Amino acid sequence: MGVVISVANHKGGVGKTTTTVNLGAALGRLGMKVLLVDADPQANATRALGLKKPEKSLYQVLAFQDDIRTAIHGGDAFDLIPSSVHLAGFEKNNDVGKEFILQEAFADIKDHYDFILIDCPPSLGALTISALTASDYAVIPLQSEFLALQGMTDFIKILRTVKTRMNKELDLLGIVVTQFDHRKVLHRDIYEHALQTYGDAMFGTMIRGNVALAESQSVGQHIFEYDHTCNGATDYLDLANEILKRLNISVPVSS
Ligand SMILES: Nc1ncnc2c1ncn2[C@@H]1O[C@H](COP(=O)(O)OP(=O)(O)O)[C@@H](O)[C@H]1O
Ligand SMILES: [Mg+2]
Repeated sequence: MGVVISVANHKGGVGKTTTTVNLGAALGRLGMKVLLVDADPQANATRALGLKKPEKSLYQVLAFQDDIRTAIHGGDAFDLIPSSVHLAGFEKNNDVGKEFILQEAFADIKDHYDFILIDCPPSLGALTISALTASDYAVIPLQSEFLALQGMTDFIKILRTVKTRMNKELDLLGIVVTQFDHRKVLHRDIYEHALQTYGDAMFGTMIRGNVALAESQSVGQHIFEYDHTCNGATDYLDLANEILKRLNISVPVSS
């Protein structure tokens, strides 16, 4: 049974898409069968993986309840359900119980994957709620910048509400600091403060600022294709290993 993880934070630019894509690729390198789901109408993950105008996307699954299997695009490192700009309409429609459609759709494919990672949009609308309702865990990227911790409290409240009202299975898997620069006092202060506030929920792995992570997206590759020796590749592999450890999942001997 696959573990479903939403990579979520209602703030934009904190590293959700970068984390979803490269954590997915890292888990794939560790022998896990991975599906990425791009749930952001901006389709940054879809584009970051070089998929231009996919015929089928998450939109058809959520809007028309098309068979989710028909929206899966197979890849080497992982499979992908792409996004489409039309997904924005899902935020606005009034369909009763629409936040449960994704959870129901996953029931048909959960057995085929070890991990399903969802890249959430930078909002607290129906798409993020749908993703959290369909998830076992949330991973929250936290950008090392001034005021980053303020939004975190609000987001954790939302997680609690979704757990109470929509999905009892939902838990916080962890908070990961992104774009970290250990030479900057502000970054070290933010990590220390986050550690004091959230304790064990903080991942020990920090994703360092690494220009290769941004460059790889502009050429439609994940970081292991672009440069498997860079800090970004090392950090996301460390994060993948830390997540497997937290979930008590052992890595197959062959990888
Ligand atoms: N660790 C990092 N080092 C350098 N650039 C990064 C890193 N993580 C993300 N970025 C860049 O920061 C920007 C925002 O990241 P992104 O993953 O798109 O955030 P979100 O999905 O939360 O909006 C992108 O241009 C991305 O390439
Ligand atoms: Mg994004």
